[in-house]
Amino acid sequence: MTSDPVTISVRGQVAGPAGTSRLFAAGSADFASHQAAFGPLPAMDRAPLIDELLRSGLDGRGGAGFAAWQKLASVPVDGRRPVIIANGAEGEPLSQKDAALLHSAPHLVIDGTLIAGQSLGAKELHLYAGAAQLAPVARALKERGEARIRLHEAPDTFISGEGTAVVSAISGGLPIPRDRIGRLTNSGLNGRPTLVHNVETLGHLALISRFGSAWFRSVGTGSAPGTRLITLSGNTAGPRVYEIPTGVRLTEILVSTGVDVLSVRAALVGGYHGTWLAADKLDAPFSKEGLAPVGARTGAGIIMMLGSGSCGLAATADILTYLAGQSARQCGPCTNGLPAVSSLFARLAYGDTKGKLPQEISRLAALVTGRGSCAHPDGTARLALSALMAFGSDVEAHLHGRCEALR
Ligand SMILES: Cc1cc2nc3c(=O)[nH]c(=O)nc-3n(C[C@H](O)[C@H](O)[C@H](O)COP(=O)(O)O)c2cc1C
Ligand code: SF4
Repeated sequence: MTSDPVTISVRGQVAGPAGTSRLFAAGSADFASHQAAFGPLPAMDRAPLIDELLRSGLDGRGGAGFAAWQKLASVPVDGRRPVIIANGAEGEPLSQKDAALLHSAPHLVIDGTLIAGQSLGAKELHLYAGAAQLAPVARALKERGEARIRLHEAPDTFISGEGTAVVSAISGGLPIPRDRIGRLTNSGLNGRPTLVHNVETLGHLALISRFGSAWFRSVGTGSAPGTRLITLSGNTAGPRVYEIPTGVRLTEILVSTGVDVLSVRAALVGGYHGTWLAADKLDAPFSKEGLAPVGARTGAGIIMMLGSGSCGLAATADILTYLAGQSARQCGPCTNGLPAVSSLFARLAYGDTKGKLPQEISRLAALVTGRGSCAHPDGTARLALSALMAFGSDVEAHLHGRCEALR
């Protein structure tokens, strides 16, 4: 396969400068196109696969960005048969990349699941996704006569894709996070070592197993190698999925995809659990290292733009209302803290500005952080705090009964 460091593609169709897309390179979802583009399914033992993943620098694409080699290496070799779960739940409303991948390249995700399973000696393989995404996967499995991967429907909730929620749902329980007693790689589904990977991560794993770490690294930057999928929404015609070289600057992504950068007031980077970046911060590279100095993370590859006539505080208030309603109500910070943060923010956004609202929001956000069984309160608090920072002058204006964006 060839590669081009400036390729930006939409579901396999090159939308940016000429070049070759990777995950969507087959150009069609059928098995014949997949095999023609990528060749036969490779087999890799545990040690060489860990080694190749380590050299590739691949990190997880489900949100946390954990190194893929490290997760694989942490699955114990102790006689218990591990379980592999491909996570395509994509509960994040701003994300569509996993759906795009499962519809356009289901065979690549199937390959990644089979390769990971074979390397760890796993007999039990699962794929978890919304009903609409299971359909193309079921077709693909039938097409290749593959019966080893079991399919499970993920409900359309924000937290259904959290790792412990996935394990709970597949074992017949509620699709809500469970207390973290230990790592899933040590004790997950039915107490067995369980490797939960995002479907995009598995797609890259399938390509790295075939073409190697040097090929993977031939695109992207040294600290952020390869390509990644992003979902771009907001100031554009509906959400769109792109495959980008990791580490390109946010402004470069916007320009390459035809966005008028001057019309963007801010961007929400990393999704509903992400960070608002004001326009003057959009020069940051879209990678873990590139976004760290501006306090953001890639999350599941989400960029939502806010146009110049839109109020960032109102947008944040609406997201916080949604997030507060999506908690599993098992832990105090979610049950009490998130509704309080969300209602204070709604007051700030929509005009009832009595009291020290920004201070109270900051105090509660700090209070809920790190206190839940899962990262839902942390992500929600991060969003609220980042909005206070990015829209500092709007906060002042709102406290004086005005809105800068809507004036
Ligand atoms: C509230 C919440 C929701 C999540 N939803 C998803 C999801 O929909 N899909 C996903 O792959 N990971 C999701 N994650 C991350 C998973 O817990 C897990 O880290 C991921 O599936 C691991 O795959 P990766 O290592 O390939 O990134 C979520 C995490 C949290 C805290
Ligand atoms: S922190 Fe919230 S979402 Fe996470 S497990 Fe507790 S109640 Fe559920």
